[in-house]
Amino acid sequence: MTRLPAQFVDRLRPGIRDQQVCVTGGAGFIGGHLVDALISLGARVIVLDDLSNSTPSHLADLMDLEPDKIRFMQGSILDPSALFQAVEGCSLVFHLAAVGSVPLSIEDPARTWVVNATGTMRVLQAAHRAGAKRVVYSASSSAYGDAPALPKVETMAPEPMSPYAAAKLAGESLCRSWAACYGLDTACLRYFNIFGPRQAADSAYAAVIPAFVRKLLGNEPPTIFGDGEQTRDFTHVSNAVAANLLAATHAEPIGGRVMNIGAGRRTSVNEIAQRISFILGTTHLHPDHQPERTGEVRDSVADIGAARSIIGYEPVTDMETGLDSTVRWYSEQHAASGDQKGQRS
Ligand SMILES: NC(=O)c1ccc[n+]([C@@H]2O[C@H](COP(=O)([O-])OP(=O)(O)OC[C@H]3O[C@@H](n4cnc5c(N)ncnc54)[C@H](O)[C@@H]3O)[C@@H](O)[C@H]2O)c1
Repeated sequence: MTRLPAQFVDRLRPGIRDQQVCVTGGAGFIGGHLVDALISLGARVIVLDDLSNSTPSHLADLMDLEPDKIRFMQGSILDPSALFQAVEGCSLVFHLAAVGSVPLSIEDPARTWVVNATGTMRVLQAAHRAGAKRVVYSASSSAYGDAPALPKVETMAPEPMSPYAAAKLAGESLCRSWAACYGLDTACLRYFNIFGPRQAADSAYAAVIPAFVRKLLGNEPPTIFGDGEQTRDFTHVSNAVAANLLAATHAEPIGGRVMNIGAGRRTSVNEIAQRISFILGTTHLHPDHQPERTGEVRDSVADIGAARSIIGYEPVTDMETGLDSTVRWYSEQHAASGDQKGQRS
């Protein structure tokens, strides 16, 4: 379960309790943590996910615990009838479903555009038709591209450098225009490198933290693309969850405004590798350096002033605390899977 500070939970509960809400992409990494929090705050949650990049195992556990609070629909946001059924009767829609990988978007830009841009338009149309109060959209810091100015502020001109970034940025424009033209309130949360338990560690497109942990747990060298001095604002998933809940319960219209959601601190990939190695007690870290990847930005860190002033966002977990608990979670999973293998053999 995603842990949020008690005072924070008490403040948000009245705005979430007894609401029927839809989470697209709720079987995924961030979506699963958001669903945990929504259920613990007393919402009734409908998840629409086509499982193209997830499994239903976490949701199945939640359904065992809270069968009346959660309904899972396996389907695509591109299927109008599934989408309509999912959002019908919902006051809030959290839109997270997306093709989430930069390298995959370069391999298959058409699919990325259809799911991330057209799919977002379909979600907005369906939410409007269903009479939802607000759509909270998971946007991406990749919209900033590679401009050197730091920290990234929402007033900077976007410079998407990959089909993924371009499609996620189009989603923001759609959110703003639906607020302007149809009176459907929307909020766009530009996440900066979210990490935490349950983030996929075993795909070719795995994010840097789970990819490093997996390699180190398997006694293999972690792969670093480029010199490793590229920096990111590594942000624990509880912060993304907190931002979604704050945006959803905000009393005033948000009008499609874009807000950076990060921890507000820059850490290099090399430093992350060293920290993970230290937490795991790995003595010799010899990374395998590979060429820099196309479409990846050099440096990134969020200015979180807009989210602070608009929705009262503050990071609830800092990078070090979040990394420590995340690495320990992967380590426990690894040990448990080893135990199971041992029992079978
Ligand atoms: N993880 C990050 O660091 C990060 C950073 C910036 C933005 N985001 C955004 O946050 C959101 C969630 O990301 P995540 O890291 O949890 O990724 P994820 O891949 O774990 O979750 C996305 C979910 O969407 C589902 N999905 C994909 N296409 C779908 C479709 N057509 N219909 C229904 N479901 C579909 C997938 O099966 C998956 O469960 C995405 O919109 C992503 O672009 C994530």
